Amino acid sequence: MKTSYSLLLAATLALIGLAHADDDEHGSGGKRPKQLAISAKAPAVWKTECSSCHMAYPPCLLPPAAWQQHMDTLKNHYGSNATLDAGDEKTIRDFLRVASAANKQPVVRAKAGEPPRITTTAWFINKHDEVRADVWRRKSIGSAANCQACHSGADKGDFDEDGVSIPR
Ligand code: HEC
Ligand code: HEC
Repeated sequence: MKTSYSLLLAATLALIGLAHADDDEHGSGGKRPKQLAISAKAPAVWKTECSSCHMAYPPCLLPPAAWQQHMDTLKNHYGSNATLDAGDEKTIRDFLRVASAANKQPVVRAKAGEPPRITTTAWFINKHDEVRADVWRRKSIGSAANCQACHSGADKGDFDEDGVSIPR
């Protein structure tokens, strides 16, 4: 009796484990990155410089190698010039490298001449498969890169499903 009970317990635990592993997947492939909360140690210069044209994207949304490509190509940053003085550039580069270390995903190449995007990663496309193409283009949204339009806590790294609200 005791043996079959432990077997049942083991099977139940295995099932819970499976359900949990499936938690961060939606459809096939593309686990959403973890540790998206912004560290209290984030340098002020990152917050100001990298949020002047869009929100400062939480570092763990991209792997370290992708951020290095960003920092190497600020002169032509999606058609904008986002260059910094050498000191600020080093501070931001070092911060992004350390703060994104938990992201072990491969670097996904974007269009030629563009640094890697968050919005073209497999997990991003998976998690947003229910958002129609015309919704992204709404005036109130503009592009998929405008996370805050639908995720009000995005600048704090909060993308919880419960907080999602798509503007008209
Ligand atoms: C002068 C304006 C400007 C500044 C400053 C700037 N960016 Fe950008 N960034 C852009 C534009 C424009 C895009 C493309 C947005 C789009 O496609 O809707 C972009 C896109 C991005 C994306 C890709 C978003 C996606 O589609 O996944 C990342 C990542 C990014 N920027 C990081 C940074 C970082 C890091 C800094 C600070 C070092 C920075 N940006 C500073 C203008 C800027
Ligand atoms: C048009 C609105 C919209 C925009 C813009 C948007 N998202 Fe989302 N996001 C959603 C919806 C809808 C979901 C799915 C919620 C669900 O499954 O219930 C989602 C889900 C997510 C999830 C998964 C949440 C979870 O708990 O698993 C993450 C992470 C995420 N988005 C990140 C981003 C990032 C990063 C950006 C910007 C680069 C962004 N989103 C831009 C609408 C949006």
